[in-house]
Amino acid sequence: MNDPLAAKTIVLGVTGGIAAYKSVELLRLMRGAGARVRVVMTRSATRFVGPTTFEALSGEPVWLDMFESRPEAAMRHIDWAQQSDAVVVAPATANILGKLAGGIADDPLSTLLLAATCPVMLCPAMNTHMFCHPSVARNLARLEADGHCILAPDSGDLACGTVGAGRLPDPAVIFDRVLALLAAKDYRGRRILVTAGPTREPLDPVRFLSNPSSGRMGFAVARAAEHRGAAVTLVSGPSDLSDPVNVATVRVTTAAEMAEAVWRLAAAADIVVKTAAVSDYRPAVVAPQKIKKGAADATLALVRNPDILKELGRRKNPGQILVGFAAETENVDQYAAVKLKEKHLDLIVANRIGIPGAGFEAETNIVSLFYRDGRREDLESMPKGDLAHLLLDRIGGLSPGA
Ligand SMILES: Cc1cc2nc3c(=O)[nH]c(=O)nc-3n(C[C@H](O)[C@H](O)[C@H](O)COP(=O)(O)O)c2cc1C
Repeated sequence: MNDPLAAKTIVLGVTGGIAAYKSVELLRLMRGAGARVRVVMTRSATRFVGPTTFEALSGEPVWLDMFESRPEAAMRHIDWAQQSDAVVVAPATANILGKLAGGIADDPLSTLLLAATCPVMLCPAMNTHMFCHPSVARNLARLEADGHCILAPDSGDLACGTVGAGRLPDPAVIFDRVLALLAAKDYRGRRILVTAGPTREPLDPVRFLSNPSSGRMGFAVARAAEHRGAAVTLVSGPSDLSDPVNVATVRVTTAAEMAEAVWRLAAAADIVVKTAAVSDYRPAVVAPQKIKKGAADATLALVRNPDILKELGRRKNPGQILVGFAAETENVDQYAAVKLKEKHLDLIVANRIGIPGAGFEAETNIVSLFYRDGRREDLESMPKGDLAHLLLDRIGGLSPGA
């Protein structure tokens, strides 16, 4: 897998909140994505999690003391600040927010934050009364106006026994926001509609026709586009994946529901990427009660579902880019070329189903790209997250066709 944070250096600031344990997992995620992570802890933070854990997982010394005697530590507050691509403070206590808002520099982290010129992301986490206190609200507004990125806390049951806003989001969500913070914003101002997942066509109250699509490819495209600054809407059939952060996600079940949602949303999109594996057929009759087993064999009558992609091609706005996916087990090239033309697509991504490392439930995909102008590009097997970014690179260079 390409490491999305390869060659990036990130300072992780950990302050004295009950959620400090979550920053251990955040560190692991950032390291796993290829980042060099330097950890700065406040004295209070060390009462919650030991520096040894961060030292072992980061492979770097943890910075705790402003006045360490080692020569290389003398100007660390400047060096670490200036050598970083981002500073992430998670959790950020009311105290560190107040210090940064007020320009106070009385320990390594608060001092480094004043010397940082890279993006800074602050992840406040505290008791809900503390979070709602006018001083904290004022400090957060000040910090946002100063250009810092604030990750709003989640609401719910807090460790202190209160219920409300103040919980540190899951490490995976903070990690996702770090990726967004560092991504080039080449899709800013563009509106993308993505479809994902399978559809389910009910047969009776307990059975349906479907396919094994996981939704991974479409969710990866939606997530990557959001990271790159696009306004993203995702229409997904049944999938276990959680809604991507900051993506307007519409959940549907049947092909008819997906069609209705896509008709409603497509006109406002500059780009439509249709990765969904929509059922071509649905049972002609949906039994109101569970169909009982009989003595004889049974035959199922099916009727055609709407061809969403074809209809999108017909309704295509001038200037709109339409990207389709084709999952084929045979004659991939031939089917893809026909589909491209018939459905007025600008690009078709032909998925090779049935070979290891490709298709519905796999983490990776092996695809060929067919362009409207007749070009063809065969890609190596790659993780769906990498393929999502590569597709956005290619789509960015397309000019819309009729
Ligand atoms: C058990 C315990 C949990 C705490 N949890 C939080 C918290 O979640 N958020 C917060 O802002 N302060 C919390 N505090 C208070 C901070 O630790 C305290 O304000 C400290 O001075 C923060 O120092 P620092 O910002 O330098 O890390 C907690 C204190 C204790 C004893």
